[in-house]
Parts: sequence; structure tokens; C-alpha cells
Amino acid sequence: MFSPWDSSPFLYGMIALIVVHYGYKWLNSSRYKLQDIPAVGSSSYLLSFYYALQNQSDSRRMLQAGYDKYRDSAFRIPLLLRWEVIIAGPKLVEEFWEMGDDELSFKDALSEQLQTLHTIGPDVHHNDYHIQIIRSQLTRNLSALFPDIRDEISTAFSELIPPSQDWTTIVALPTLIQIVCRTSNRIFIGLPTCRDSDYCALNIQYTTDVARGAGILRLLPEVLRPLAKHFVTNLPSRLAQAVKHLEPVIKERYRLLEKYGDKWNEKPCHSHQFIGFTAALYRLAAHSEYMAPLRAEVEAVIKSDGWTKAALQKMRKVDSFFRECQRYQGFGAGNNSLEHLNRLSRKSFDRAFVVSSRRRARKDLQFSDGTRIPKGTFVSISSMSIHRDSEYYDNPDIFNPWRFSDLREEEMLKHQMVATSNAYLPFGHGRHACPGRFFAANELKCMMAHLVLNYDVKMEQEGAMPEPMTFEFSIIPNPKAKVLFRKRREF
Ligand code: HEM
Repeated sequence: MFSPWDSSPFLYGMIALIVVHYGYKWLNSSRYKLQDIPAVGSSSYLLSFYYALQNQSDSRRMLQAGYDKYRDSAFRIPLLLRWEVIIAGPKLVEEFWEMGDDELSFKDALSEQLQTLHTIGPDVHHNDYHIQIIRSQLTRNLSALFPDIRDEISTAFSELIPPSQDWTTIVALPTLIQIVCRTSNRIFIGLPTCRDSDYCALNIQYTTDVARGAGILRLLPEVLRPLAKHFVTNLPSRLAQAVKHLEPVIKERYRLLEKYGDKWNEKPCHSHQFIGFTAALYRLAAHSEYMAPLRAEVEAVIKSDGWTKAALQKMRKVDSFFRECQRYQGFGAGNNSLEHLNRLSRKSFDRAFVVSSRRRARKDLQFSDGTRIPKGTFVSISSMSIHRDSEYYDNPDIFNPWRFSDLREEEMLKHQMVATSNAYLPFGHGRHACPGRFFAANELKCMMAHLVLNYDVKMEQEGAMPEPMTFEFSIIPNPKAKVLFRKRREF
């Protein structure tokens, strides 16, 4: 098939255009306008590029250095094509959350990062209907959906990690992705499609393709992107594959709706997501001492309440364990996660961020300490540093799984896994705080409850926590680490 990219004059022309474009952009860029904000590393163009390269693999150290030095204000970190301003001072952080979308825009930051207009498509770019669906149909129906979630988790675990008397070695991340993918799709699309391996692979691949396409499109001048998307992404063919799976399901649903009208109360929710479980599993497998308290709690609650959503709410230790994992090592999703994962592991979707809540300035802004943010600048909060700041947490560098469940009752409610605050940012905070977090927490806690009741786990290298991998502002739990599972021995 003919592709203009195969033609040398076309290719050289494109390269020249890109060079001119970035030269022009650089001359007019906010690099100059950001001069008043202190830079981590160096603010000079060439040296900042060197630090930008360093930031690709060492962002945690660079961010912490900036946070320690400019703890009461803001600083900037060089990325390959631009600067990111990090708001650090507590007062400025308050002001950050108070700013409206016409000042600091969530959508503009996300659109630039994922190139949603050209990758996912104009419907999602212009219309937030999916957020309403998550907030209403999905979250409000969690109790009713719970039996399906529970059933899929239990079936998926027994098929993908069959309980055996001997230790079985599992590469954790890809296996957990399958379990999460099946469980989420049991809710979004239902049986039997949620178990279709081709459909699950498509879900995973689609996300990777969006990230890869967006990564290439971002390098091109805006004007070329509508054309270039046809050559650098294969999303239309992925969508066609998805339609093959979804069309019969959707037709059947229309048929049921016509037949039963509003009386048909099982209208499902459409969306898709991948969530993380791996980091918590590694921690549990590396620390056998956490197993007994978790098991005791889950057993007692299930005995009194059975498997219900309400029962999950009573699992305070399980909740605290996840919340502490998120606090301690990050766990949030964000705009550049998929791209990062794409480079590190095609099949990894469990991601965490050292910064949170990226926004893009829609106009020139000024914070109360005089920090000026020019229009177009990307601004974030250093969630990692906040989560490890002794002003917000006692002994912040110690992982304490029962940190939140040991609190007094009324305090504990304020510190449930899904509760966001200025000091707890894995799900973001404020008006764009993740609307899927109730669903995600439900699914993760149910998976953990199932796991501790049915399996013993340990790391392949006993007691060792696998090193996470970092790329730019993202962290992922090690995608290759192996966890040993066996059927639970002690009852
Ligand atoms: C452990 C799992 C998850 C984590 C850690 C997570 C984290 C996040 C974060 C950090 C944000 C950005 C918040 C901000 O910038 O202030 C976000 C937004 C969002 N999340 Fe999640 N999320 C998870 C699961 C889900 C699930 C399961 C869904 C859907 C069912 C979902 C749907 C969304 C949507 C639609 C937004 C955009 C909200 C908006 O535009 O206002 N997330 N999430």
C-alpha cells in the first residue's frame, strides 16, 4: 500500500517543517516567559535539555530536589519539549485547586498529552458524557453490580491462577491485567464478551495504540496532525475490530430495550479502564506479616455480612492497606501513563505518578506569592513529595499498612481509600477528582479479599520488593517480577 512516508522528498519536507516549527515555537516559547520561576538543574537551553534527558529516568530525585529547595513556592522541571511548573507551597497548592477550568484546564492538558481529538476521537474530546455515566449509572449501581464483579473475580482467579498445593510462579502484572480487564468488562459489556481473549487483548492494545499515536502526533506541528493521524495510528482498524465484538451486544440491548422499555433495569454502562493491583500484591508478597491481619478481617466480615459491597466497606484494614500503598509509592493514573508503559512493557497498565493533576494554563495567571504562569504552561502538583512530607504525615517514609485503619472512627472515615484531599492525590482532587475511583476501589478490595482468603503468596526472591521502573513522571511496579502463589494452607 502506498504511504507518503515512503517517499524521500515528502519525508525530508516533513522533517524540515518540524525543525522550522520547533525553532519558531522555541523562540516564542514560555522558556523565556518562565524565567522568574526557579528551575531544577539549569535554566539555560542546552543544559536544561541535558537535565530533561536525566529526568526521563530520574524524575523522582529531581522533583524531590526541587520540592526540598522551593518548598514554599513553585519550581520548574525540564521535559524534552517543554517545561513543567510544579506548585509546591501549601498556600499555592490551595490556590491551584481553587482555580477554575477557564484558568487551569484539565481538558487542555489531557488533550495535548493524549491528542484525544485525533486518537480517541472528537466525540470523547468534545463531550464529557462518559463522566456522567461513571458518576451516575456506574457508581450508584455498585451494590447491584457487586455479584457480577465478585463472580468474575473468582472465576478469573481460578482460571488464570489455578489454586494448587505447590507453589506456582506467576509473572504478576500481565496476569492481573487480564483479571482486571475481564472484571471491568463484565460490568461494561457483560458475558460472554468480557471473557473473549481477543476482545480483552484488543482493550489492552487499543490503549497502547492511543498512547503511541499520541506520542508521535505531539512531535508534529498542529496543522499536520489531522492528516498525519491516518498514517501514524491504526486506531480505525482497532475500532473496526471492536465493533465486530460490540455490534451484536449493542443490537441485543436495543432489542431488550424495545421489548421491555424502562422495565428493563439492567442497562449496562459503557466505558473502559485498567486499574492497578500489582504494587499492593508485591508488598503483600514481600511482607508475609501483613497476611494474617488482612485474612482475619476479611474472614470475620464475610462471615457476618457475606459477599456484598457493604461488606467491603467494613474491611478497614484492606482499605487502609491500599490507601497506604497509594500514598507511599503513588498509584495514580495520569495523562502520560500509557505512553510510558508503551515503552517499558507493551502489556503493562499498572502505573503511578510522581506528579498529579496536570493542568494547562488557559490564560496568563499569577499566584499570591507573585509566581507568574504564562498561558499554555503545563502546571502540576508534586504528589510524591506531598505524600512523603512530614507536615502531612507522621513518619512519612515508613510504610505502615494500618496507618489509616488505626485512626479513631470519625478520622478513619475521612481517610478512606476514595477520600481525596490536598495531601492525598492518587485520584487527583477537586472538580476533576477521578469519578471512577469508587468502582476501582470496590474492584481492588474485592480482588484483595478473594486473594487473601484463597491463596498464600510470596515473592520469587523472598522478602524482596521489586524495584519499580520510572520514566519521566511515571512509575510502574516492576512488570517482570514473579510472585509465587499456592492454595491457602492455614485455615
Ligand atoms: C486505581 C484506579 C484509578 C486511579 C488511580 C485513577 C486516577 C485518576 C486521576 C489521578 C485522575 C485525574 C484527576 C485530576 O487530574 O485531578 C483521574 C481522572 C479520571 N478517571 Fe480515574 N483512576 C482510576 C480508575 C478509574 C476508573 C475505573 C475509571 C472509569 C470507570 C476512571 C475514570 C476517570 C475519568 C473519566 C477521569 C477524568 C475526570 C474529569 O475529566 O473530570 N478512573 N483518574
